[in-house]
Amino acid sequence: MPSQISLVGLGVMGKSLAFNLVDHGFNVAGFDIDPHHRQAAHEAALPLNMASGKGQLTVVDSLSQLLACLQTPRVIALSVPAGEVIDTVIRELLAAGLAPDDIVIDTGNSLWTDSERRARDYQGQLRFFNTAISGGEVGARTGPSLMASGDASAWAQVKPMWLAIAAKVDHAGQPVGQFEQGEPCAAYLGGAGVGHYVKMVHNGIEYADMQLIAEAYHFMSQALGLSAVEIGHCFARWNQGPLNSYLMAISAEILQTPDPITGKPFVEVVLDKAGQKGTGMWTAVNALQTGVAAPTIAQAVFARAQSGLKAVRVAAAKTRTNPASVAYDDIDTQLENLHDALYCAKLSVYAQGFDLINTTAQQQGWTLDFAQIAKIWRAGCIIRAQCLSEIASAYQQTPDVANLLLVAPFAEAVNRQAPGWRATVASAAQAAVPIPAMTASLSYFDALYSEVLPANLLQAQRDYFGAHGYARVDDDESRQYHLTWSEQPKRQQIR
Ligand code: 6PG
Repeated sequence: MPSQISLVGLGVMGKSLAFNLVDHGFNVAGFDIDPHHRQAAHEAALPLNMASGKGQLTVVDSLSQLLACLQTPRVIALSVPAGEVIDTVIRELLAAGLAPDDIVIDTGNSLWTDSERRARDYQGQLRFFNTAISGGEVGARTGPSLMASGDASAWAQVKPMWLAIAAKVDHAGQPVGQFEQGEPCAAYLGGAGVGHYVKMVHNGIEYADMQLIAEAYHFMSQALGLSAVEIGHCFARWNQGPLNSYLMAISAEILQTPDPITGKPFVEVVLDKAGQKGTGMWTAVNALQTGVAAPTIAQAVFARAQSGLKAVRVAAAKTRTNPASVAYDDIDTQLENLHDALYCAKLSVYAQGFDLINTTAQQQGWTLDFAQIAKIWRAGCIIRAQCLSEIASAYQQTPDVANLLLVAPFAEAVNRQAPGWRATVASAAQAAVPIPAMTASLSYFDALYSEVLPANLLQAQRDYFGAHGYARVDDDESRQYHLTWSEQPKRQQIR
């Protein structure tokens, strides 16, 4: 029986995807350049292959064997590191006899512009397709969020498999089990780079959401003096309300977990230097290049960078001459304020992410359905959260809204909860506890709601030293003026 799909790369993600496909009745062929990965996948597949009602995973020893055991047109999903390796494998597949109507799917965290370039490079040689995957190993195995894009004709063949293996939600937007009926968190989003672009912004939001939760922990620990376990309990309680999310749930669990070696809270034995693979940085750079304000996402990347300067921080901390010490007698009020700050800042992050996607879509000529994007993030992915159902509804009702924070339910919630947000930012500043993402979100919100910003002075400065021109409040915005600053009479005239 020929296989319907194949996986090249049987590492953690590739193997998990293959088993997920097998679980849903698909026959899968698998290949990995590393014989140990091939052997491990073969052994792990044995019990699955014997189960009735499931598909089969056949592990082969070469790309030509892989092509030989696939039904045509062939579907080859790549689960290999992003970058040059993708092109290397595609060239090897072409050399092994790939046909022009065969479909190659990049499932990695590729840079979206690379995906666009590949679509051009391989046109006529194969049907190039992309599917960005979120959810890590567990997601890939039991139901990820799938952001598909690329050759439209390929989607018809890929779609039944992707809809089957994706995470699913019920009518209320709640995740359901792997084999239950529900709405799949998988969608075809558009041309070659769109899936990876949307995933890149997902990761920017992921960075910011993680940083916000980490800042809440830091404030509770450093300013309020709560223990890791107490903070974990508080997060678990908050996870029952509007802050409900996967990242909040795992943070609550992490904080209540002891280190198996010392018995201390596990989080306290982890070195406070954050790593990164770069997708959050791509989002921040893209925001800067696109001219979209995404300050919380950028601050989350900067916060990881500054965390890396451990030695500098340790030395500086010893020389600090003005240590802040703030005693809070009303911890409950502080926690209520922090809860509101976290919720408002989180909504600001989504507003930034969707604004970025919207602006890029306009620049690139993509037609995107924002409600659909919010829907496929409701389960399976790392940023899955209760608020995504509300975001999906908001975009369904007002698809053209300029900013999520202007939509009625969010505008009301954020304006109502802003006092707690301000109080938290002020408390943290007084206690010298850095909360850059929460603070950046507040400034973003305040700028969004400010009729007047000081850009008038910026424009005047630009005109003064560079003759860059300015528009006037009492004339058409498209008309540019310049004041000849060196000539005294003109300066007087303008007054
Ligand atoms: C996901 C994640 C994943 C990402 C890791 C690591 O959606 O499953 O976004 O794709 O690679 O979270 O990211 P960093 O190492 O950059 O933190």
